[in-house]
Amino acid sequence: MMEILIATEKPFAPITIRQIREVAEAAGLKLTLLENYKNKADLLLAVATADALIVRSDIVSDEVLEAAKQLKVVVRAGSGYDNIDLVSCTAHNVVAMNTPGQNSNGVAELAFLLMLYQIRGGFSGKTGTELRGKTLGLHAFGNVGKYVADIARGFGMDIYAYDPFVSERVMKNNGAKQCINVEELYLKCQYISIHMPSNEITRKSIGYNLIKKMPHNAVLVNTARKEIIDEEGLLKIFDERPDFSYLSDIEPDCKAIIEEKYKGRYIFTSKKMGAQTEESNINAGVAAARQIVEYFNTGKEKYRLNK
Ligand code: 3PG
Repeated sequence: MMEILIATEKPFAPITIRQIREVAEAAGLKLTLLENYKNKADLLLAVATADALIVRSDIVSDEVLEAAKQLKVVVRAGSGYDNIDLVSCTAHNVVAMNTPGQNSNGVAELAFLLMLYQIRGGFSGKTGTELRGKTLGLHAFGNVGKYVADIARGFGMDIYAYDPFVSERVMKNNGAKQCINVEELYLKCQYISIHMPSNEITRKSIGYNLIKKMPHNAVLVNTARKEIIDEEGLLKIFDERPDFSYLSDIEPDCKAIIEEKYKGRYIFTSKKMGAQTEESNINAGVAAARQIVEYFNTGKEKYRLNK
């Protein structure tokens, strides 16, 4: 019997596991679990017998793929796949896929949770501010960016977007005005929400020169990846602009400095929380299981990432 292994350092909700099990068993596949693991050795051991693997932000390195002797397919239950060594997947004859869009609403809602909590002074009792009528810039306009725009319309925000891969028409249909370059976005928007993947082009791409353009009381929200921010530039902005706040779904490497020097101007989640909802877990986890079953049954490589 072929085996699907779910290997998740940050586990899915139990209801998700039940639903994935149903999909697997209906297809005659055995489901095994490695949840909450604390060291790589456990992962290396668990993957040895797996024919298919479902992960979240778990690192699927060359070493893991080398240990996974039976592996045919790995699905990242989520969007960002910077945790998977795609070159090594190809070298090991493993198909890698993701499940784009499935957890995007959870991430979008978290962006608002961070913004609202911050501008209400973290429930400290001091007078806060509101989102209505404020400018919101979406830095990248993929699945999450669109969900954020959708929610922002309800808040009555003035929405702008910059994404070189998305047309003005798509932005307009989703209630956002297109900026012709990234500088325009940062110049116009008091709130910027980042929604791009981490890759060679985007890593450290948001730094001092861009952030300093933001208007008074600037709030930068990062529910994407910490690697996208140039932290040297970020610290310089914190130092120069007492009106600047940074809200991030995952701690930056320079967290200790910010915590010590810039109280009240940041929020950092200790674990990546954007997709940590039952709905996002179910959507992404079950989609991953279905893609595996479909691949085994028909060879269809839905959302294949490696060549
Ligand atoms: C993603 O890329 O899909 C999100 O960042 C969620 O990641 P997670 O599954 O590790 O929470």
